[in-house]
Amino acid sequence: MRRLIVSDIHGNLEALEAVLRDARGEWDQMICLGDLVGYGASPQQVISIVREHAAAVVRGNHDRVCAGLDDDDWFNAAARLAVRWTRAALDGESLHWLSELPTGPLYFEGFEIAHGAPYDEDEYLVSDDDVDYVAETMERPLCFVGHTHLQRVWDLSGVEPRRLSVPGTGERESRLTIGAESVLLVNPGSVGQPRDRDARAAYALWDSDARELILRRVEYDIAGAQRRIREAGLPDFLAARLAHGQ
Ligand SMILES: [Fe+2]
Repeated sequence: MRRLIVSDIHGNLEALEAVLRDARGEWDQMICLGDLVGYGASPQQVISIVREHAAAVVRGNHDRVCAGLDDDDWFNAAARLAVRWTRAALDGESLHWLSELPTGPLYFEGFEIAHGAPYDEDEYLVSDDDVDYVAETMERPLCFVGHTHLQRVWDLSGVEPRRLSVPGTGERESRLTIGAESVLLVNPGSVGQPRDRDARAAYALWDSDARELILRRVEYDIAGAQRRIREAGLPDFLAARLAHGQ
């Protein structure tokens, strides 16, 4: 089975469409790690596409707050404004669908998915120290998480976490063949609001038969996504940051 793994789309239709174009013919099933909405100006369209294609979705913190399951007072000002705008922009059915998204982790044959961490959907796994004990909380040898908007892969099979390569500036992809003994924590990065100083949309492909993991970046119509954000009257900062990937 070949899976397309996407996370943190955040209402960015232009980025999601670029990912789908780029990965066309390379996957059988889409898996989404949450935060479909918030920040970007196309939440309704993004939800429609994910609902059409994804075999499994876990909720993110923005999905949870947008659906009214949590207060927004712990969000920063821009995120709070975006959540309120998004809530008003979504139809009732989409809001209901968001409210019913499961909390991770969800388990599959050979892998699991969560938004932040397997033990806490809101945990940010950024540094090697952050992931030191994550393997002990995993039920499968491969775990996909999002939330940080940073494309990262750690091999957790040794004494210390070891970072594996992801595509650098100007590189399209990293291909990793995964050994049967590996224990991997994979963040595919953010489709719609990358924060690793690379403005390109990020995603991953996992072929469980070939045991090949691909981390990929693809350029998208950033100007178009920015235009929609500004036309929606969302904070300009949310448009500007897309060009810098942070
Ligand atoms: Fe996010």
